[in-house]
Amino acid sequence: MAVRPIVEMGAPVLRARAEPVADPGSPAIRTLAEDMVETMLEAPGVGLAAPQVGVGVRLIVYRVPSRRRLTGEPPGPVDPVIVVNPRITVVDATEQVGREGCLSIPGLVGEVPRAARITLTGLDLDGRPLTRDARGFHARVIQHEVDHLDGVLYIDRMRDLRSLAFERVLIQMAAHRAAPAATQTGT
Ligand code: NI
Repeated sequence: MAVRPIVEMGAPVLRARAEPVADPGSPAIRTLAEDMVETMLEAPGVGLAAPQVGVGVRLIVYRVPSRRRLTGEPPGPVDPVIVVNPRITVVDATEQVGREGCLSIPGLVGEVPRAARITLTGLDLDGRPLTRDARGFHARVIQHEVDHLDGVLYIDRMRDLRSLAFERVLIQMAAHRAAPAATQTGT
């Protein structure tokens, strides 16, 4: 496995529609997926889509840290999940607004509306069907990553660009208020 350079906003690959993976079991796709997991963990981030390492194919990786799990969800982290040709079905379209960052837009965070509950379907690296029911942060991460496969960045989804901010400023302000810092990892 290897850490790959992360492509940043302005690169055309981040604005293109990614191509479906024809052979999920191919060695090249496995290597790409493993490199993406390593790159995500090293960043550190909670998700990564193949276009973010410059490869225009429909492949995402993500994870959900323990502190992001919702009450009522199974405890513990969601370890890195690799999804080939992911598709989202919205189960509950109720909008939840939450803060997001992106490894391809370093330093910035913004408030983004997302569907409250989704079902993720796709394939694993053996070509077997994979399904995940996701709510809250879990659903948010998946929606953010699948957007990358369609050339969509979180800033496109923002309704009010006034919430766009440098994360370090928000952390400084939170520290001044003696409140817990609002930490955010990119995706
Ligand atoms: Ni992102």
